[in-house]
Amino acid sequence: MLTFDHVHFYYKKGQPIIENMSFTITSGEFVAIVGANGCGKSTIAKLIDGLLLPKEGRVTFESLDTSRPTDLDKIHEHIGFVFQNPEDQFITTTVMDEVVFGLENIRVPREEIQSRLDHALQAVQMENYLDAMPHQLSGGQKQRVAIAAIVAMRPQIIIFDEATSMLDPEGREQVLSIMKELHHQGMTIIHITHHMEEVLSAERILLIHKGRLEFDGNPMIFFETVNVGDYQLEQPFAVRLNTMLHPPSTLLMVDWKEMIRLQWSIN
Ligand SMILES: Nc1ncnc2c1ncn2[C@@H]1O[C@H](COP(=O)(O)OP(=O)(O)OP(=O)(O)O)[C@@H](O)[C@H]1O
Ligand SMILES: [Mg+2]
Repeated sequence: MLTFDHVHFYYKKGQPIIENMSFTITSGEFVAIVGANGCGKSTIAKLIDGLLLPKEGRVTFESLDTSRPTDLDKIHEHIGFVFQNPEDQFITTTVMDEVVFGLENIRVPREEIQSRLDHALQAVQMENYLDAMPHQLSGGQKQRVAIAAIVAMRPQIIIFDEATSMLDPEGREQVLSIMKELHHQGMTIIHITHHMEEVLSAERILLIHKGRLEFDGNPMIFFETVNVGDYQLEQPFAVRLNTMLHPPSTLLMVDWKEMIRLQWSIN
């Protein structure tokens, strides 16, 4: 369980970014964090991972507390991070080394490294690119390798911070389907995104506005009750279509809700 307990944060005193924020994410959830540019989403991600510390309040994961320096290594081990630009995440020169590097870093026994490597690359369908140079891969492939490097570490939570935003539709679809699969296997997924189509895949949406939690609930209630335009966000196509019809078609309304429902019942 991940907990924000009355968290306050600012970069410059007197200019609060996060104000008195509390929420809990339980193990295995698929949560989307949305909000306008600069509302503090990446700051929240960094607070979760202990890269930033609250000025007041606490951020805890299980019994670990980000304010305890001795807990930070464990927190980084349990919480993986995938960023917007996969280029920024590469350290080595081959796909294989990229995954192995992290494992050696956390001292995974040599005999276990091979199986973790195989499994992680299979999970993102990059097992045929062992010797490829990350910089020569497509954007989507790069991001999949970055995800494999995280998956190999066996974290309990993966935070994707705009991890699909630089990808073409195909790459985006692939990364989203990997997220769903990891969630299906029991991992907690935190997906920070501007793409409202992707938000339909989440079980829960946290909307951030002016440093506060403006909405916390499921996508159906979100799109029914929140005027997303107020937050520089767009409605997903299916929801937009539904709203354009007067009177709203129950059939289509059922459609996008059904989309969400089906997703969770098939998996
Ligand atoms: N290192 C920093 N020093 C000072 N201010 C910062 C720093 N990082 C971010 N900020 C400011 O804090 C606010 C929140 O930034 P943050 O990156 O968390 O927003 P975001 O919601 O992730 O934005 P985006 O949608 O553009 O990714 C912004 O006003 C930003 O300018
Ligand atoms: Mg951001």
